[in-house]
Amino acid sequence: MDKVNTDIPTKVNWEEVRAQFPVLRQKVNGKPLVYLDNGASSQMPQSAIDRIDAYHSHEHANVHRGIHSLSQHATDAYEATREKVRKLINARYLEEIIYTTGTTDSINLVASSYGRKYFREGDEILVSEMEHHANIVPWQLIAEQTGARLKVIQMNEHGELIMDSFYQQLSEKTKMVAVVHVSNALGTINPIEEIINAAHEKGAKVLIDGAQAVPHSVVDVQELNADFYAFSAHKMCGPTGFGILYGKKEILEEMPPYRGGGDMIDKVTFEKTTWNDLPFKFEAGTPPIAAGVGFGAGIDFLNSVGMDNIAAREQELVDYATGKLSKIDGLTIVGTAEHKASVISFLLDGIHPTDAGTILDKEGIAVRTGHHCAQPVMEHFKIPGTLRASISFYNNEDDIDRLVEAIEYTKEFFG
Ligand code: ALA
Repeated sequence: MDKVNTDIPTKVNWEEVRAQFPVLRQKVNGKPLVYLDNGASSQMPQSAIDRIDAYHSHEHANVHRGIHSLSQHATDAYEATREKVRKLINARYLEEIIYTTGTTDSINLVASSYGRKYFREGDEILVSEMEHHANIVPWQLIAEQTGARLKVIQMNEHGELIMDSFYQQLSEKTKMVAVVHVSNALGTINPIEEIINAAHEKGAKVLIDGAQAVPHSVVDVQELNADFYAFSAHKMCGPTGFGILYGKKEILEEMPPYRGGGDMIDKVTFEKTTWNDLPFKFEAGTPPIAAGVGFGAGIDFLNSVGMDNIAAREQELVDYATGKLSKIDGLTIVGTAEHKASVISFLLDGIHPTDAGTILDKEGIAVRTGHHCAQPVMEHFKIPGTLRASISFYNNEDDIDRLVEAIEYTKEFFG
């Protein structure tokens, strides 16, 4: 995913698209809501909300367990999402799509299951300085248990990975490279194709945190050739509590279960238990069925707009916002990488991000403030946190103009 093409491939009526998101039609603190916190969680279109409602109203039963019709129907509805995900990211096999509760859970699954089986004293896990905590802490936990060591790829003052730092630290000792595709704190698009190829040459496996990439671009896991790729439903028109781990079938087959319980077994005896086939080996217990069904409707919606169109429109909005924000006196954009997607982090001179965020909220503007679960990024820039506007295809130029006005007001407010 390089800087995306800004030519909009097909004509889309973006106001009609926006009208499908009921949450956007409200006032917050007496002002029309401008929702620019899509990096934290995006909104759901009416079709996904209705699908979840219909599921609860007419279709709910437990999945994979019942001979009765309702259970079979619920199973079909829940499993239909797996094929939609497979197609969306172009995975080769359906069994490569593991349902999880989100990106965090997906990464913990790999760290725990793969790490427990394969990491040894002296092995190295390479992460980057711009990782979300979810792609740092699970590796620290497994490193402590196995004696493996965490190493860190540094970034430059633009918030881009220093590739020399990557190559200097990559070696035969590297067992896992775990890197974010698009930084949630800075918006940087990382050169993951290069990272994946180089890591493979050294025999390392690669996990990509795609939480901020799949919602905003076309991702093809076969083309990327990553061993694992993780993302969440709630950042892409789906509900919370549901996510995906893509993993290469031959690797997943050799990995032990992550959690034990119902559905993940083949045969249980007190002497020995055997495991279910992929993907169910990794899906213990009653899953978030309604969320899975709702995510299917979210994917249908994204497809109806077109991921190419979404990527191009968002790039247009990011460019528009970057242009406008750059002109504001006393505003500094944090993260000025050449290739960026969906996220603009910034600071206002002399105003703490939390104070500024509070005033923006009073103006009806929802942005995230703080360290964005990426404390090492803030440490790198020696700042307490940022204000972060994260853009989705249903935002528009008016939203950006309202943000700019509210920033000007915030500056006046604090004198
Ligand atoms: N990881 C999410 C964010 O960046 C929650 O806001």
